[in-house]
Amino acid sequence: MNQPVMEGLRLNVPAYVKHQRLIAWVAEIAALTEAKDVYWCDGSQEEYDRLCQQLVDAGTFQKLNPAKRPNSYLAWSDPSDVARVEDRTFICTDRMEDAGPTNNWMAPKEMRQLLQTGDQALFKGAMRGRTMYVVPFSMGPIGSPIAHIGVELSDSPYVAVNMRIMTRMGRAVLNVLGDNGEFVPCVHTVGAPLVAGQADVKWPCNKTKYIVHYPASREIWSYGSGYGGNALLGKKCFALRIASTMGRDQGWLAEHMLILGVTSPEGKKHHVAAAFPSACGKTNFAMLIPPQGFEGWKVTTIGDDIAWIKPGQDGRLYAINPEAGYFGVAPGTNSLTNPNCMASLNKDVIFTNVALTDDGDVWWEGMTDTAPAHLMDWQGNDWTPAIAKETGAKAAHPNARFTVSAVNNPALDAEWDNPAGVPIDAFIFGGRRSTTVPLVTEARDWVEGVYMAATMGSETTAAAAGQQGVVRRDPFAMLPFMGYNMSDYFRHWLDLGAKLAQSGAKLPKIFCVNWFRKGADGKFVWPGYGENMRVLKWMLERVEGQGRGEEHAFGTSPRYEDLNWQGLAFTPEQFHTVTHISDSDWAAELKLHDELFTQLSHNLPGELPATKAKIETRLAAK
Ligand code: OXD
Ligand code: MN
Repeated sequence: MNQPVMEGLRLNVPAYVKHQRLIAWVAEIAALTEAKDVYWCDGSQEEYDRLCQQLVDAGTFQKLNPAKRPNSYLAWSDPSDVARVEDRTFICTDRMEDAGPTNNWMAPKEMRQLLQTGDQALFKGAMRGRTMYVVPFSMGPIGSPIAHIGVELSDSPYVAVNMRIMTRMGRAVLNVLGDNGEFVPCVHTVGAPLVAGQADVKWPCNKTKYIVHYPASREIWSYGSGYGGNALLGKKCFALRIASTMGRDQGWLAEHMLILGVTSPEGKKHHVAAAFPSACGKTNFAMLIPPQGFEGWKVTTIGDDIAWIKPGQDGRLYAINPEAGYFGVAPGTNSLTNPNCMASLNKDVIFTNVALTDDGDVWWEGMTDTAPAHLMDWQGNDWTPAIAKETGAKAAHPNARFTVSAVNNPALDAEWDNPAGVPIDAFIFGGRRSTTVPLVTEARDWVEGVYMAATMGSETTAAAAGQQGVVRRDPFAMLPFMGYNMSDYFRHWLDLGAKLAQSGAKLPKIFCVNWFRKGADGKFVWPGYGENMRVLKWMLERVEGQGRGEEHAFGTSPRYEDLNWQGLAFTPEQFHTVTHISDSDWAAELKLHDELFTQLSHNLPGELPATKAKIETRLAAK
């Protein structure tokens, strides 16, 4: 061991670490936060098991019954720390307009004062009494030319073990980094320092929270939360917010998209990337099992949440999944809605905020039709169906999650780890809308597709703290994840399309979908899940220049007879309910697009209002 000694602190640098800049930064953050000691994660199974046991001993984890759920754990968070905190998330660019009107902004100097340099700076002494874990991770296959490396310093062992599942983590990453490689520095603290002798709590966190990005220096600083995207900094903070700015500067895309492969019975394979807001079914779509009537079709998963997409030599767009695991929403998942997901969760899982059964297994709302007679709910209270009926108490938190390695997925695509990525044939954008937006619409061209994506709206879900079920504009499903000005991002998409088209390449087609329309009884009409294959097949036929449809004001949609209904009783009337275009709904919708464009007027590409004007003309001509 090579052990530079700081006052009262050993850095414990393993001999294999050769990167002096990294070591100096670790020393600097350890000194700032006054961490008790430093532990460098090697990413081994032995280390994972040891840290999990440590979490069990600390009461953060409960080990689940190995006969039912081998090598799996359950964590219950502090009730105040259950979701991403969008109102505490900041993009710190020199100029406010570069963060744009959809982001919280603070000047870098002011933020650094608050977090690092001021007398009362939050990170000063924040890790007192705690070990600082050094977590080197690769977003994307280790060594891939498309991958990028980050190092997270965190005082949470829960974060360290989750990062081992969600990323390629450990010593192999440091080997690639060598003695001078580039990495995105990510600093995370739960913000709960311990004084000598103070007992820890099971889920340390702080009421004050800051999730902070400095795009210019590509730094991430996260304070006060131990949960999900607030704390696992490779995911939303790096792979979307920081990576989106890298993509803007370097000519590629970092998107909130699943990636899937579809293979036809004849063996022809297509790849599709689809953007949906959080908790709108990306994981389910990525693991879809084709229904009756689609014998011989196969859907395989490349990624379920994030895509990094770069132009290849041939002018096509190639996508990788920068993650190595799934951090998915548990409630609603069951062996009918997503059998592949349920199979992925048979072993080696970390569950957070689901309920505990009396025989040491997990349960969540929607897992089975009938709830167990007794459970411990996600806050550790007794729960029975009668209590739920009386108080409305949920057994699992609506944003309860599972963390599981991609290799557990029976539908994992053979190319998921291919450093070169997969070529994208179509982009799909979809929001959660009970009204207005039809089941599926194909954009007539790239600009119209960008318009659809830019003006997308969705009803909010439990994935973020705040009111649920209200429609908000969520351009490209990126509203909470954009690292720069949204209008500049629209420009980037338009420019990339124009550049690819100029090179003579065939651009991916762009579609807009809505699985969530409701009938007069307030219930979803479209059955969704595996049945989405019917819509997916139509889209692929369109990619192939086949497949029929009807052009309307917004693009092209299939008529009832254009979809394959074999194996599903879905009437033309039901089809009408999920596809019809109401003039009054659309007049109201276009007003909302206007409001969005007013909000985003700084640098808004002229192509977007021009596309809106064309839609209005078409609607008026009906
Ligand atoms: C997620 C999210 O965790 O989008 O993927 O909230
Ligand atoms: Mn997501």
